[in-house]
Amino acid sequence: MFKVNDNYLKLPGSYLFSTIGKKVKAYEAAHPDKKVIRLGIGDVTQPLAPAIIEALHKAVDEMGKAETFHGYAPDLGYEFLRNAIAKNDYADRGCPIGPDEIFVSDGAKCDSGNIQEIFSTDNKIAVCDPVYPVYVDTNVMAGRTGVYDPSTETWSDVIYMPCTAENHFVPELPKETPDLIYLCFPNNPVGSAITKDQLQVWVDYANKVGAVIIYDAAYEAYISEENVPHSIYECQGARTCAIELRSFSKNAGFTGTRLGFTVVPKDLKSGDVSLHALWARRHGTKYNGAPYIVQRAGEAVYSPEGKEQLKKQVAYYMNNARVIKDGLKEAGYTVAGGVNAPYIWLKTPGRMTSWEFFDYLLENANVVGTPGSGFGPSGEGYFRLTAFGSYENTVAALERIRKL
Ligand SMILES: Cc1ncc(COP(=O)(O)O)c(C=O)c1O
Repeated sequence: MFKVNDNYLKLPGSYLFSTIGKKVKAYEAAHPDKKVIRLGIGDVTQPLAPAIIEALHKAVDEMGKAETFHGYAPDLGYEFLRNAIAKNDYADRGCPIGPDEIFVSDGAKCDSGNIQEIFSTDNKIAVCDPVYPVYVDTNVMAGRTGVYDPSTETWSDVIYMPCTAENHFVPELPKETPDLIYLCFPNNPVGSAITKDQLQVWVDYANKVGAVIIYDAAYEAYISEENVPHSIYECQGARTCAIELRSFSKNAGFTGTRLGFTVVPKDLKSGDVSLHALWARRHGTKYNGAPYIVQRAGEAVYSPEGKEQLKKQVAYYMNNARVIKDGLKEAGYTVAGGVNAPYIWLKTPGRMTSWEFFDYLLENANVVGTPGSGFGPSGEGYFRLTAFGSYENTVAALERIRKL
């Protein structure tokens, strides 16, 4: 008789966004006359930029002719894309990352979930609290997290690093030494950023204790402040302790088109074993590459026209962030985030729990957000709104919230 991977059975409840989806669906079914505005899930709403559409069309036409048809992509991704990434995201920022250290994929969710596979199950992970749920859940699936305590909503073998108003939503170094440290900046869900000096402390720490930092920079394009690093490789010594995850979802609207990449520097080693070689082995064995047409679309993100158009797209969302932040402040809410990230993290009013505020907002303002507690225990009493809606919906949502 077959047996299942019973680590999956340890996962508590359903995925946060399916619970939200069910609640919203039930509300809409019961109130078909209400127009619900969704500022919950971090999905973009603006169409792909013209430079990207043009590249897609061109690549589709190439696929229709024998002379320019493309089959399986090279293991690491096409060189034209890896060269564009290495130049624009790394060389131009003074980061010593070569094209052959870049692994193109279909997005950062898969990579952030899969990367743990190349590490021993004995490794201890440290995560921010609250946190993007994928980091913890995929380690649960791998059997790395110990026993779940429903009363505290924590795992016995996970080091939680609270991100609270007191530390300005940037974690302090953990007391217990981790092997793998997940950091995400600009942060989802709290919308905070880390300065270069603060990140350097983490890099020095990881090198000292022999830990690896898995640095998720999916929201890098939203950075507006000078002292905030776009890549962990802007810090000295990061090549020996850090893996970086990037996505085209939020900087270029590829949530439905799918493209991302992971950087594993060749200097990152456990004894003689290169993590680059292990990830290359995994990538080559389990993955057959992002589509040619999508990689061409990714290349267009770095063209002069693409850059210009995407700068405007990011500015559009960040204007929404400003509308949300200012509107909430005027309404008397305590808010964080929204400066270097498209997320606004607000304190729920009174003594409302995150889910109580979710229901309150859905029922009274017909606005959907995300309960902070869904991202971890330190998220209780907080709520996340995203700047990814349309400007019109964002303004309408804030008008409704202000009237509550
Ligand atoms: C922190 C973080 N990492 C990764 C992802 C996933 O990105 P992708 O669309 O590239 O899979 C998200 C998506 O919301 C995210 O918030």
